[in-house]
Amino acid sequence: MKIKELKKAAVNFGTPIYVYDLSIIESQYRKLQNAFKNLDNYKIHFAAKSLSNISVLKFIKNLEIGLDAVSIEEVKIGIKCGFKKHEILFTPNGVNFSEIKEAKSLGVKINLDSLESIKDFSENYPNDPISIRINPGIYAGGNEKISVGHSNSKFGIPEEFISDLIKMDKENRINVTGLHIHTGSDITKNNEFEKGIKKIFSTATKFKNIESIDLGGGIKIPYFSGDTETNLNDYAKAVEEEHNKFKNNTGKKLKIIFEPGKFLVSDSGYFITSVNYIKKSQNNNFIQVNSGFNHFLRPTLYNSYHEVINLSNPNDQKEECTIVGYICEKDTLAEKRMISKISKGDLLCFKNAGAYGYNMSSNYNSRLRPAELCIHDNSIKKIREKENLEDLLKNQIDIF
Ligand code: LLP
Repeated sequence: MKIKELKKAAVNFGTPIYVYDLSIIESQYRKLQNAFKNLDNYKIHFAAKSLSNISVLKFIKNLEIGLDAVSIEEVKIGIKCGFKKHEILFTPNGVNFSEIKEAKSLGVKINLDSLESIKDFSENYPNDPISIRINPGIYAGGNEKISVGHSNSKFGIPEEFISDLIKMDKENRINVTGLHIHTGSDITKNNEFEKGIKKIFSTATKFKNIESIDLGGGIKIPYFSGDTETNLNDYAKAVEEEHNKFKNNTGKKLKIIFEPGKFLVSDSGYFITSVNYIKKSQNNNFIQVNSGFNHFLRPTLYNSYHEVINLSNPNDQKEECTIVGYICEKDTLAEKRMISKISKGDLLCFKNAGAYGYNMSSNYNSRLRPAELCIHDNSIKKIREKENLEDLLKNQIDIF
């Protein structure tokens, strides 16, 4: 961790602030390349929903990575950043068909997850290739909100309808060239990945024009030293094994797509706040910072753990404290932690804030979203301005 640079960034640009170290994104990508080196044809598509600042996206595009887009806006941003259209896979859920049409007209690949939308697609674009997202009926993911591959989830084609699609494909009413699963985020157990891998490869044998399978995201990164993480080599081995079986059964090879969000960018991001007050009560040592869940939602929404470093005083004696925001409801950012002695004005840095940090921020309590910076080629650059009051008001209409 680059404490000196992060401190400099916070002092020069003010807090709260998000900072991304682009070299970490690249080194995470190299880890994937190393783990997947025995797969003959694979592609990484970055999940734009996790972090979509255009400078970061361009950096990622320059690494020859494709894009996983979930909304027409992400598709448009991806195109604007120069991603190749055939390397953008649009995976919407529950959107109006007009949005799918628009994505189609932009030339990106489409991945649908309901029989209803697939029927609309086949009527509008008979015989055009389509990818479909199946629901593998697997419960996997770090918490209930981000576990989306089980049978009660709204995502993916429910298992009981897959035979209908196989029939439609046989009768040339649809042309399925891709299959997709995404079972959840923060998947720790490799056997949960393996179940999904087995399911998708065996389903793939039933589609005559199948060219690619997409295994979604979900790779778990450690949030603190000693935390669990996905074993990438085991993951890659499981993919290789199932692919070999597929090749032996069908005589065909598939392109394998992975859609990491967190794995690529989580560790690259730091969210830095300043201490307004230290408020003591009988049972708590509340550290009140100049932010809240409006800027950094994960701890409140998922109870997720983000390590906190006191940039101003990193190596002092540790004291127990609870870091809270200024939002007018409970917005604990870190509970009962042992952190190097904190004083008023200190800079506190939350780690692993690159994925779903800025992208899940809001204007709740009429607060302004912070600026974003990146560390690249030994310099710190601003990649998004902090909002101002005008930004907050610009779309509002005063009728009085
Ligand atoms: N592909 C699809 C279709 C997805 O829905 C997602 C994430 C990904 C890939 C990337 O997953 P990742 O590698 O980042 O786990 N806001 C939550 C995470 C929500 C994930 C939604 N889908 C969080 O902060 O934990």
